[in-house]
Amino acid sequence: PSFFKPIQNTSPPSPTKRHTKISVVGVGNVGMAIAQTILTQDLVDELALVDANSDKLQGEMLDLQHAAAFLPRTKIQASLDYSITAGSDLCIVTAGARQNPGESRLNLLQRNVAMFKSIIPPLAKYSPESILLIVSNPVDVLSYIAWKLSGFPANRVIGSGTNLDSSRFRFLIADHLDVSAQDVQAYIVGEHGDSSVALWSSISVGGVPILSFLERQQIAYEKETLVKIHKEVVESAYEVISLKGYTSWAIGYSVASLARTILRNQRRIHPVSVLATSFYGIDEGGVFLSLPAQLGRSGVLGVTNVHLSDEEVQQLRESAKTIMEVQDQLGI
Ligand code: NAI
Ligand code: LAC
Repeated sequence: PSFFKPIQNTSPPSPTKRHTKISVVGVGNVGMAIAQTILTQDLVDELALVDANSDKLQGEMLDLQHAAAFLPRTKIQASLDYSITAGSDLCIVTAGARQNPGESRLNLLQRNVAMFKSIIPPLAKYSPESILLIVSNPVDVLSYIAWKLSGFPANRVIGSGTNLDSSRFRFLIADHLDVSAQDVQAYIVGEHGDSSVALWSSISVGGVPILSFLERQQIAYEKETLVKIHKEVVESAYEVISLKGYTSWAIGYSVASLARTILRNQRRIHPVSVLATSFYGIDEGGVFLSLPAQLGRSGVLGVTNVHLSDEEVQQLRESAKTIMEVQDQLGI
């Protein structure tokens, strides 16, 4: 008998709303920051965790389950077996080696490509209609690898890309101007890494385009300040990794914001790693890098036709070339 007794004159149960499920592969610093933020923001009905380390996986699952009294009800499961991910709407991949202090993201490629060959095919098999959201580094090349290994259409393979770099950029600009980062629009595109490109013309504060404002006010030095801020963004991860050994909280919020936009079909624009071939004269065969993309329930809905200066287009092509040089070594 059910724990509850129905009241009289009860109507039959209405069809429940669509059950949403996210799988997170890799329950390390990043995977758990993402999982914790997804739970706190009540983004999903079911969360499945996968990792190669059984004790870590079991421990993290139990530790999250023990928070149930403080969180919206979410079914949390974990297994070494990818069948636990079946029927996912979104599969977030954070498994992989991370940078040692001073090491570049591109250095991680060989180790993490080998790992992806055992991670992506089962995810695609158990959730053939899901969207893959790649976080592991180097995220742009690994997004391309995930696209190839999954056989998914490109709109359902997204890398977290420069969504994080753009957040750092917005924070530093907001801090400099003493305003809220939520009132600063600013995009960094290209490689999530050393060759990222700041879209100066995209920066606006409370709707006021910064560059034209500074030019009108003849505040030339501020452009140098912006260049310095972009350099700080590129150095951010190296600095945090040298201090605490890894980065986690900002990427956790960054990826949760992408998950919300996708699962709630928000149609918001995020700078994320997408198949960039054919945009801005990027004619390499298959290269993923970040562009301002509109995201919704079917993944990438389109790339905004934002105007780039000749210098920005050139830098973007350089960024694509950097990624392709590394990618071509893989022969995939
Ligand atoms: P971590 O070492 O804390 O966690 C990695 C996890 O992957 C471990 O739990 C490990 O057991 C698991 N793992 C390793 N091989 C596996 C396999 N074959 N299958 C399933 N799980 C496996 O590392 P952390 O700090 O969480 O970073 C993870 C990745 O995320 C790194 O590649 C790092 O560079 C990247 N990252 C990307 C960011 C971005 O903005 N795209 C930001 C921060 C980190
Ligand atoms: C970052 C590195 C780890 O935090 O990708 O940007």
